[in-house]
Amino acid sequence: MKVAVIGTGYVGGVTGACFAKTGQTVFCYDVSVDKINEWNSANAEDSFPISEPGLGRIVLEHRNKNLFFTADPKTAISDADVIFICVNTPTKTNGIHEGSFEVHYVEQSARDIAPLLKNGAVVVGKSTVSVGTVDLLEDVLRDNIPAGVDFSVVSNPEFLAEGSAIEDFLNPGRVLIGIKDGDVHAKSVFDELYHFVPESSRIYTNRWTGEMSKLANNAMLSVGRLVLINSLTGLCEDTGADIVDVSRVLGMDARIGSKFLKPGIGYGGSCFTKDVKALIYLLKHNHRDVEAEFYESALKINYALRERFVEKMYNCLYSLKDKVVGVYGFTFKPETDDIRDAPAITVCKRLMDEGVFVKICDPKALKHIPIIFQGKAYEDGGNKRYSMTTDPYDAAIGANAIALITEWDVFKNLDFDRIRNNMKHPGWIFDGRNLYDSNLINSAGLNYYAIGRGTFKLDNHRNAGK
Ligand code: NAD
Ligand code: UGA
Repeated sequence: MKVAVIGTGYVGGVTGACFAKTGQTVFCYDVSVDKINEWNSANAEDSFPISEPGLGRIVLEHRNKNLFFTADPKTAISDADVIFICVNTPTKTNGIHEGSFEVHYVEQSARDIAPLLKNGAVVVGKSTVSVGTVDLLEDVLRDNIPAGVDFSVVSNPEFLAEGSAIEDFLNPGRVLIGIKDGDVHAKSVFDELYHFVPESSRIYTNRWTGEMSKLANNAMLSVGRLVLINSLTGLCEDTGADIVDVSRVLGMDARIGSKFLKPGIGYGGSCFTKDVKALIYLLKHNHRDVEAEFYESALKINYALRERFVEKMYNCLYSLKDKVVGVYGFTFKPETDDIRDAPAITVCKRLMDEGVFVKICDPKALKHIPIIFQGKAYEDGGNKRYSMTTDPYDAAIGANAIALITEWDVFKNLDFDRIRNNMKHPGWIFDGRNLYDSNLINSAGLNYYAIGRGTFKLDNHRNAGK
């Protein structure tokens, strides 16, 4: 089959590469000529437009054989049997329908595709959208296709997570295919495309259910699990309970399960908040105000965690002005270069607002940092309020505190004696991910705070005497 992929970001890039790996001929198209040039010229894992473990290897194996990157829509779409729309659907931030998805890029894709469609082509919405967006696709296509062309529209939301995207795509728990009742042709195309997924894991629903299920899935993971567990961290600290043990207890209930219960500074990333905001919009639009309030509170809880973490640092360090803080991890999770809605952005901004010099340490994110922290607010007398490094020991030099925000492997198994020797004293470790062993850190002569550990009474953990 000839497969076209529109948009070569985290979803499009992985979708294109994985379909090529599973035997299809794939043409990936993007409006960004720079991005296409990067896909075509990259020759090492870390030179691709996105960083995803294993992706570069697949692209290098298949590029210019059965995987092509082009900035010309005609090359990609002409003769394609199936076209996946993988463009971004950000939150609409003002005006009419504020809070919902901005579907402009999806609509534009449909307009670009329509005149080039061949008869029988299947157009697939893979971007996350509001319920009913398949109708937009169908309308725009119907009114812009050449005479005599018939087509199908399918909703095939994507469930991959960054950092494990290749494995998620090739071995998914299930593939969700929202299809028009009786569209035998589209079904046969999808059965062939997803031949590598067991038949019992290919879930066919109607198209609105497909779109709704994706929103529900992200709401369940973010609100139902992460916000719920994190909503108890403050109370654990107030009462002397331990959130890590609470999470362990919950996880051992087979009905609950242990995944997605890791407590800490809360979730980030490009999708959870965006998708929950769109759900809130949809609920309100349909006069479901009580339900909408539930999700609104959840978003507030998630973001309050970041603010409280910085407040805790302030209180423990007595003042933040002219302090130095090493920030461990900047991406929104490990194993990606993606910093969209990363908790570290909020933490660093708040610290810099308070007069802190921030030493940012991250294996993949440093290229983004000068873009994020531009302008006078991030300068002091013409000097930047931050520095960048990939070495955790370097980030500790002269620091009053270390704030662990993203649990990259490089931050595990550190030599805390060496860290302490590099730091100013009393030195503090603020652990936003419950990564470290308090005894190890205290015995190195450092103070330790971790989110939700009411059992760690701070007074007992001031151990600066070593
Ligand atoms: P992204 O921003 O990384 O990539 C989107 C790409 O689309 C960009 O390269 C952009 O240049 C391109 N684009 C925009 N308009 C275009 C057009 N008209 N024609 C061609 N290219 C165009 O976004 P992403 O993270 O890959 O997410 C894409 C969609 O998938 C979103 O709806 C998102 O919610 C959903 N999703 C994302 C993930 C994830 O982990 N990132 C997982 C599941 C679903
Ligand atoms: C998430 C979902 O997991 C995917 O199924 C979905 O396809 C995707 O969103 C999307 O629609 O974009 P992703 O955001 O890439 O994937 O990464 P996750 O592994 O879900 O992590 C999201 C955030 O939750 C990260 O900040 C992570 O640190 C945090 N998290 C995750 C926790 O704080 N605790 C946990 O136990 C798990």
